[in-house]
Amino acid sequence: MKGILLAGGSGTRLKPLTDVCCKQLLPVYDKPMVYYPLTALLLADIREVLVISTPKDIGAFRELLGDGRQLGCRFEYAVQDQPRGIADAFRVGADFIDGDSCALILGDNIFYGSGLGDILRSCGNPRGGIVFAYPVADPRAFGVVEFDENLRAISIEEKPERPKSGYAVPGIYFYNPEVVRMAQELRPGPRGELEITDINRQYLERGQLDVRVMKRGTAWLDTGTFENLLQAAEFISVVEKRQGFKIGCPEEVAWRRGFISDEQLKALGEGTRKSGYGEYLLSLLGVAAG
Ligand code: DAU
Repeated sequence: MKGILLAGGSGTRLKPLTDVCCKQLLPVYDKPMVYYPLTALLLADIREVLVISTPKDIGAFRELLGDGRQLGCRFEYAVQDQPRGIADAFRVGADFIDGDSCALILGDNIFYGSGLGDILRSCGNPRGGIVFAYPVADPRAFGVVEFDENLRAISIEEKPERPKSGYAVPGIYFYNPEVVRMAQELRPGPRGELEITDINRQYLERGQLDVRVMKRGTAWLDTGTFENLLQAAEFISVVEKRQGFKIGCPEEVAWRRGFISDEQLKALGEGTRKSGYGEYLLSLLGVAAG
């Protein structure tokens, strides 16, 4: 399965933070934001990833993440010249996807929780689409999915004024290869964007949308406003300090999933030793930092 990490958009709600640095490269405590969704893809055992961003920012992502070899992966890069909508990722990424199944994760979505890796790995090879439903206090800013009494999804709407349920659809999606054709035939919605919710609705109408409720023990964090960004950083900091494990560390996941060897992890750790981040990587191997 391939993966797309969508990290474009204009970041208008975080100006002036995003005047010269794009949103998905802003720090969330001790790492750039994009590390968290990238780590989620690696947890899903997805090793071929296309990073999509704006013409202005794509170079910074390439500089940060490279060709992926250091993580036992393959990263490619593509430009979205206009923010045409989330579903546009499958048009931009059509050649990269090349007839395979594909996961999409939004570059500003952070997930954390016990069992998350198993949950994500169970989404390989979807029959149609697989999305998640996550209970939130105010779902109006999200895609919202409604269930019948048997917990079967019956409707999905983008940012409804009157939500039919309290379940938001988080920004991680898994699709069969048909998604590319669906995106190519999609028309913009009322906001003028190619809506991912319209893709999901098409799968739903064909009886091919598997909607899985994400347990409340899983954290899905927002980074859309100053307040959310600070809260996400605080959450990461509190959990990391308490447990001594890092959240959203792609090097660690690449090593634990066997994409890279002890030697490769050691080399990565030595490269960043001075910041404490490298010390952490070395500590996983039982190597004391010096
Ligand atoms: O976070 C989950 C929500 O993400 C879903 O519940 C909604 O159904 C989905 O539409 C989306 O809603 P947002 O309002 O958060 O989407 P936004 O336009 O903010 O875009 C999300 C990220 O994707 C953002 O970091 C920028 C990036 N993006 C967005 C668009 C429209 C792109 O890279 N290119 C784009 O064309």
